[in-house]
Formats: sequence, C-alpha cells, structure tokens
Amino acid sequence: MDIRTTGGPATAEEVSAVDSVLGIPASLWEGGARHPADDHIGFGGHAARAQRPLLLPVLHAIQDRVGWVSRGALEYACRRLSIPPAEAYGVVSFYGRFALEERPALAVHVCDDIACKCAGADELCSALEKSVGAAGKEWHRSPCLGLCDRAPAALVERAGADHEELQIAPVSLELAKDILSGGAWPGPGELKPLTPTLSPQGRGGLLRRVGVVDPESIDSYREHGGFAALKRAIELGPEGVITAVTDAKLLGRGGAAFPTGRKWDSVAKAPASPHYLVCNADESEPGTFKDRELMELDPFAIVEAMAIAAFAAGCEKGFLYVRGEYPLARRRIENAIQKARASGLIDLEIEVRRGAGAYICGEETALFNSIEGKRGEPRNKPPFPAQAGVFGKPTLVNNVETLVNVLDILVEGSAADTRLFCLSGHVREPGLYEVQMGTTLRALIDLAGGLREGRTLQAVLLGGAAGSFVTQQQLDVPLSFEGTRAIGATLGSGAVIVLDDTADLKQILLRIARFFRDESCGQCVPCRVGTVRQEEVLHRLLTDRRDSDITLLSDIAQAMRDASICGLGQTAANAITSAVIQLKVV
Ligand SMILES: Cc1cc2nc3c(=O)[nH]c(=O)nc-3n(C[C@H](O)[C@H](O)[C@H](O)COP(=O)(O)O)c2cc1C
Ligand code: SF4
Ligand code: FES
Repeated sequence: MDIRTTGGPATAEEVSAVDSVLGIPASLWEGGARHPADDHIGFGGHAARAQRPLLLPVLHAIQDRVGWVSRGALEYACRRLSIPPAEAYGVVSFYGRFALEERPALAVHVCDDIACKCAGADELCSALEKSVGAAGKEWHRSPCLGLCDRAPAALVERAGADHEELQIAPVSLELAKDILSGGAWPGPGELKPLTPTLSPQGRGGLLRRVGVVDPESIDSYREHGGFAALKRAIELGPEGVITAVTDAKLLGRGGAAFPTGRKWDSVAKAPASPHYLVCNADESEPGTFKDRELMELDPFAIVEAMAIAAFAAGCEKGFLYVRGEYPLARRRIENAIQKARASGLIDLEIEVRRGAGAYICGEETALFNSIEGKRGEPRNKPPFPAQAGVFGKPTLVNNVETLVNVLDILVEGSAADTRLFCLSGHVREPGLYEVQMGTTLRALIDLAGGLREGRTLQAVLLGGAAGSFVTQQQLDVPLSFEGTRAIGATLGSGAVIVLDDTADLKQILLRIARFFRDESCGQCVPCRVGTVRQEEVLHRLLTDRRDSDITLLSDIAQAMRDASICGLGQTAANAITSAVIQLKVV
C-alpha cells in the first residue's frame, strides 16, 4: 500500500522506536531499504496486516521515545502495519495519553480529581498556572491517577531512549516546580511507602501477602504459599476448578457483580477456538486503587490466578490490560510473568497490554477493541465475550481482584467473604481496607480513623464517579451487593470517597460531569450529547437555580440511562442525580 500523510518523513528516532516493536523492515514495501525484487513483487502484506493489533504498542513506543506522535511517525507506523493513515489517526486521537502536537519531553500530569481536590489539588493547579503557565504544554491536568490514598498525586514522565515514568504522591507545589525546571526526581526512599493500610482486625484473605512478600521475588512468593492453588487446580482438573469457583458463589469485582463460575463455565464450553483470557487491570474509576496495589505488592498472585483461569476455561493465551498510568504495577507484573514462566511454574503465554488514558477501555468490549489496535469503543452485546470476545473468539474476562479470590477458593475450600475498599478523601487514614461483606459504611470509615477533629460529614461518594452519594443518615448501610441496592447505591469498584464539611460539593459535581463528558467515547447519541448537556445544565444550575433546569437534568439522566449502549452512559448521571435528590446541592 502506498501510504502518504501530510507530515514529513519520520525521524531516525521515530523509525527506531517503531522498529523496536516491529523489528527491522524486510522490504521497501514496509518502509525499509529498496531491493531489486521490490520492483516486481509486493510481498509481506499478510504478515504486516497480522501485526495490526500492535498499533497501540507501536504508538506507545513513539510517544515514549519522542514525547508525541508526529504525522511522519504515524505514516511510518501505518506503512509498517499496512493501516490506512486515516484509520490510524482515528485510533491515536482517541486515546488521551497520545499527543498529536509537539510538546516537551518532560511532562507532569497533576490529578485534579475528587480525592486530590480534598487534599488541595485545586490550589496546587492554580499555583502552577501562575508560576509555570496554563495547563496543556509542560504540565497537564489529569483525572484520578489511582493514588488517592496519598493525594494530591502526580505522574511524571520523560520521553527518550531511556523513557522514565514516576508516580509521585503526595506531590507538593515546590516538588512539581522543581521537576519542571529540570530538578532531580525523588528516589524510592523519599516517597511515602506503597504499603496500604490494612484492617486492624488482622490481615484479610486477599491482602495477606501484601506488604509481607517481596513483590519482585518468586522465591518469597513461594515461601508464602505461592503456587499451591495452581497445584490444587491441576489435581482438581478444569471441571473441578469451575465447580469450586461456582460453589464459592464468587461474584465479579469489576463492577457488574456477575457470577464468576458461570462465566468460566460458558467460556470452557464455547465450541469455537482458540479461547482467550483477559485480566482487566484498567482500573480508571475515580477513587479506585485496589487493583494497582495488588499488582504492585502481590503480582505473582495475579499471574498464578491467571494460569488457573486459563487452565479451567481452556484459554490458550492471556492478556493483562493494565492502566497506562500504572508504571510500577506494569513493571512488577512483567517481572512476575517472566519469572513464573522461566521457572517452569506456568506455561501460559501472557501478553501485557498498556492502556493509553481512556476510562472506557475498562468496559470489557472496548478493551477487546483496544487490544486489537482499534479505538476503544464498546461493542453491542450480544454476542457476549464468552461467545465472541477478543479477535472474535470466546474470551474470559475478569477483574484483578476477582481472579485473586480464586486462590483462596482452591486452597482454603472457600472464598474469604471479604471485599476490598479504597478509602480516600477526608478520613484520617486513607488506604486499602479489606473487610467482611456486610460491614457497615460507618464501621469502615471508623476503621480508617474517622473524620478529622472538629469536622462533620457532608456525604460519602460510594462506587466512584459512576456511583452515588450516601448521606449521614445512610451510614449504617451494610456494604454488600444487596445492602447497597436497597438504598439505591452500588458497591461498584469499591471506591469510598469521604467528604467532610470543608468539601466544595458543587466543584466536585462539576468535576464528575467533566469526567463523563471527556470520557464518553462518542459512539452513541444519548451519551455523547447527554454528557455535554448534563455539564452545561449543571453549570447553569449552580449559578442560577431554575426548576426547568432541574427537570431537564432529570430528563437527560433518564435518556442516558435508558438509551446508552454501555455502562458509561447508563451511569453517567448517577452521582449528579443522587446529589440533587439526596444532598439538595442545587
Ligand atoms: C465504563 C466502564 C468501565 C469499566 N472499567 C472497569 C475496570 O477498570 N476494571 C474492571 O475490572 N472492570 C471494569 N468494568 C467492568 C467490565 O466491563 C467487566 O464487567 C469486568 O471486567 C468483568 O470482570 P469481573 O466479572 O471479574 O467483574 C467497566 C465497565 C464499564 C461500563
Ligand atoms: S454509552 Fe457512551 S461510552 Fe458507551 S458506547 Fe455510548 S457513547 Fe460510548
Ligand atoms: S489520584 Fe487524585 S483523585 Fe485519585
């Protein structure tokens, strides 16, 4: 294919970045050197098209090397992968982390989402605007970075041959300014430790190795019982494993609470082949950081659980789709996969795929499209993933926390009846807490040290931006699927953001509305238009309250809930509606 964009040719650095993923081109047709045979035969088309799913890794390689994706670099990538440039442009422009305009190699992303607002992110951003300049060039505003327990948070990255990324939390104005002016980045010892806060009643099932094992060492994992569950799985056989998971009544922890055993059984029985396994580690729900902590601090457990899931459902290959803003989690998971395979403990091939700043890619079918190198747009269901998932093949997709639960089911004979909650905002000890299902919200907040001295509770945002607000009067709600449903709330991803009387609820609602407007993939009208209108009406209402706007907001919410094709649009009005009804914010 003769491909031309309006950009100049790729630079040597850009070519080298693309080649680092795809290898050196074999012919002129792929953008390499001209050979006499190239004048007569066009070859390599099938091979190039087979590499189509590598578009995102190629884009990441370019962005990591030079800090942005130029037209020339995109043209070379298109030639190598045999993709029309217009299609590739559609992909690169979909993902928030890819820059299409030139920008400095050093970029600082500062979170201005809810938990960080509670910790002074707005003041930090205003001070940066005054001293460094408006966001968008050297520093960028970011939605939640999954570091809410140590808010305010930032992610810094420096493009180059030795691309570097570092999560910094808490970040101060001085530190951000120092880094932007070329100062040294803090070393590991200078940052707050990554160990989460655990339940004072003792280490729960899921978190028992967290902070105890060396996350880089397979020997340490084995000394703490690692790979016993996989051994047990092999003794039980695939059907025995599925029966054990079904009997344990494990429900998915990615938000939809689907019975895990039933899902595994459907994939195992799907006639088409091959079967794929996908571990959903995209975790972008504001206020959620449980999967990050599991990946950073107990990565071998996830690899072991993936091997068990693949064994039970007959999956030939696994993908782990990790959020792009989690560099440490990605490194630790890659290390765990490499060591588990090198030691012969697992033979499953697991490919780690890196997200690129799109919340919607956590939705399972959008995630499949992203793995395939496409825009992360959700697909219509049916067909369901168990019938036609990634590459149109039966696919088992599970959340990180769901998978880790399987280890206890096999070793202990039952799942720990616990659940992870990410506490952030105005509590004394934000962190990751594992408590019994059915623990009340009040008890959970007490575990986290309660509110600061002299403060009163304004509300709790349960389930993140897609969740809803809970009031002081509802604090005795049991944190179980049924308990929260009874008050019209949801556990969602386990995010619990506590807001005391100092929180600016109006600004928080506007941040939620902006989040959904930014993150809507735009594929279906109710969500694309509804999220924009919702934000507009909210802006109006917060300055000039009119009953007609309240009615309009409620109509928009209803239309999004009823007519959007995926969960993003269906939940985009939840928090705002609950604030209007329960908290009487407007
Ligand atoms: C907008 C949206 C975002 C989602 N984000 C995530 C996510 O980050 N992680 C996750 O595990 N599931 C997420 N989900 C749910 C997945 O679609 C899917 O239900 C889940 O990965 C299945 O795993 P489970 O059965 O183990 O819960 C999201 C769903 C929607 C609609
Ligand atoms: S509901 Fe929103 S995010 Fe989901 S497919 Fe429609 S436009 Fe995209
Ligand atoms: S890291 Fe800022 S809100 Fe989560």
